[in-house]
Amino acid sequence: MASYASPAPDRSAQRKFFVTTPIPEPAMTMLRRSGHVDLPSGALSDTDLECACASGRYDVIVAQLNDRFDRDVLDAARIRGISNFAVGYNNIDVEHATANGVMVANTPEVLTDATADIAMLLILATARRAVEADTFMRSGQFDGWKPNLLLGHDITDRTLGLVGFGRIARATARRAVAFGMNVIFCARPSTERPTDTRDLADLAGSVRSVGWDELVTTSDFLSVHVPLNEQTHHLVNAAVLNAMKPSSILINTARGPIVDETALVSALESKAIAAAGLDVYEDEPRMATGLAQLPNTVLLPHIGSATVSVRAEMARLCALNAIAIAAGTIPPHAVNPQAWDL
Ligand code: GLV
Repeated sequence: MASYASPAPDRSAQRKFFVTTPIPEPAMTMLRRSGHVDLPSGALSDTDLECACASGRYDVIVAQLNDRFDRDVLDAARIRGISNFAVGYNNIDVEHATANGVMVANTPEVLTDATADIAMLLILATARRAVEADTFMRSGQFDGWKPNLLLGHDITDRTLGLVGFGRIARATARRAVAFGMNVIFCARPSTERPTDTRDLADLAGSVRSVGWDELVTTSDFLSVHVPLNEQTHHLVNAAVLNAMKPSSILINTARGPIVDETALVSALESKAIAAAGLDVYEDEPRMATGLAQLPNTVLLPHIGSATVSVRAEMARLCALNAIAIAAGTIPPHAVNPQAWDL
């Protein structure tokens, strides 16, 4: 078990943070100025995290999206809150956090554009076979321009179907419209509740709300932008993949388990769909058997928000949230403000 690198002096009056993985500056300095910071001395196991939560030594856990806070951890936890270094918080059972008075906070908005850029990158890279072409070039196979070399597909005038219509989906829509794509969306696939046209804001006239079946069967690119929860787990399953056009391409920059990855490998192998561009995986960091061998995939290692400035801004928000929680105030980006009956 990893031990916690804790100095000897009595700092009981100080706010105490347990940071599961160091996050970019200015966050670590902000946290250290505000209180005492402990880091794990080695790789952090699930048991180590559970012990840190239950120890009573920490006000706030500054967590990563691969740190799991399930019901057992939260029932035993003696912490004020969790500041998650991510916009998504499917690693935390928020219902049980709330029931146990554990405040949860996240880092929304600052990563919207960067993640939409990655969705657009995957759309372009899959359509134009960028990874295949790069491999071809590096392996010395290029022996001159040819009329039929590595032909891909246009994105202009093609239909982009957005699964979800939150901030990142809208930012992707803006980019796609600029590329001349037709954009349709289904805001809440599970309920099919239509979107009020007033809710389209600057995208009114550029995008169209459709039902789930129409989205799946008519999109040339189906791009996933919903949070992972019980309703969206395996939303894109074998039936959905088989209902897509054989020429269509699946893009996922949201969360891996929204797509049944084994069914996706089968769909790509059988050419039920043409290609897939993924930044997230069902069982990260692992990939489903066969996925890495498929040439019609572009596979990124969960880098949607990975720019220097975005990660620094996420870190700043994460520290602000943690400091507020430790001080007993509602953090700027509270997921469950109702956790505290102030
Ligand atoms: C990254 O995936 C995030 O949720 O911030």
